[in-house]
Amino acid sequence: MRTVYLNGEYIPETEARVSVFDRGFLMADGVYEVTSVLGGKLIDFDGHAVRLERSLDALEMRSPISKEDLLGVHRELVRLNDIDEGMIYLQITRGAPGDRDFVFPDPETTMPTIVLFTQNKPGLADNPAAKKGIRVISIDDIRWGRRDIKTVQLLYPSMGKMMAKKAGADDAWMIEDGFVTEGTSNNAYIVKGNKIITRALSNDILHGITRAAVLRFAREAQMEVEERNFTLEEARNADEAFVTSASTFVMPVVQIDDAVLGDGTPGRVAPRLREIYLEESMRAAV
Ligand code: PDD
Repeated sequence: MRTVYLNGEYIPETEARVSVFDRGFLMADGVYEVTSVLGGKLIDFDGHAVRLERSLDALEMRSPISKEDLLGVHRELVRLNDIDEGMIYLQITRGAPGDRDFVFPDPETTMPTIVLFTQNKPGLADNPAAKKGIRVISIDDIRWGRRDIKTVQLLYPSMGKMMAKKAGADDAWMIEDGFVTEGTSNNAYIVKGNKIITRALSNDILHGITRAAVLRFAREAQMEVEERNFTLEEARNADEAFVTSASTFVMPVVQIDDAVLGDGTPGRVAPRLREIYLEESMRAAV
């Protein structure tokens, strides 16, 4: 039985209740963050807290909690639930105004809802999939135009994962105008020669916290990084590919649709970046 955090209280998961009028439930009017925990410590908490502020600002939502208190809540949930490896899920919605209305409620009278819970994942860092690599399919990116805001509107990414599963693959890369945007829940990269290529930041993709760290570590290790659009065709002909996210870190991709990359096993760059990422981010964990 987990202890979760709801609107200022630590309570058993079975006692946590949110109103049927909550705008997160009725309108997906909410934002979220997923922060990983390794060795009982938070990976890149600061990056997630800063992006949360950005998402809230973009939706004209007030934060119900300060950054310092948010860190305290994360740490307390890790302690109460005895998490060594896993994730902390955080969601803030515009709250429950007591009826359904398209117009935003008055923030003076409707408080946001804030929920955090832990996900225990022993072996997260030592994920066997990272040794084999994953297979992805390509699907059209038909999401909305503000993918930089981390909202809880995850129906299409969820459908994308199901399309992948039905096709016998692990995940899907989304394609817009012939170019790869990102994975259903991760940022996408290819490697050509010694160059790491990933789409530049814009409203078209989520500004991954893991992405920022991985690109910084890659540059520090003198690897060449190019931030630009790349086509599905270019990806199919790449030497290597990989994805990054808070829950998978750096995950090699060995197949895109029917195109096998290299010899069908993770190459040199992605596994090395995974190693560097885990080492450096665990060192900086709080
Ligand atoms: N997803 N792109 C999308 C669409 C995502 O949903 C995510 C994260 C990322 C990677 O961002 P970060 O490195 O900050 O985790 C990119 C989280 C893990 C999720 O929905 O579970």
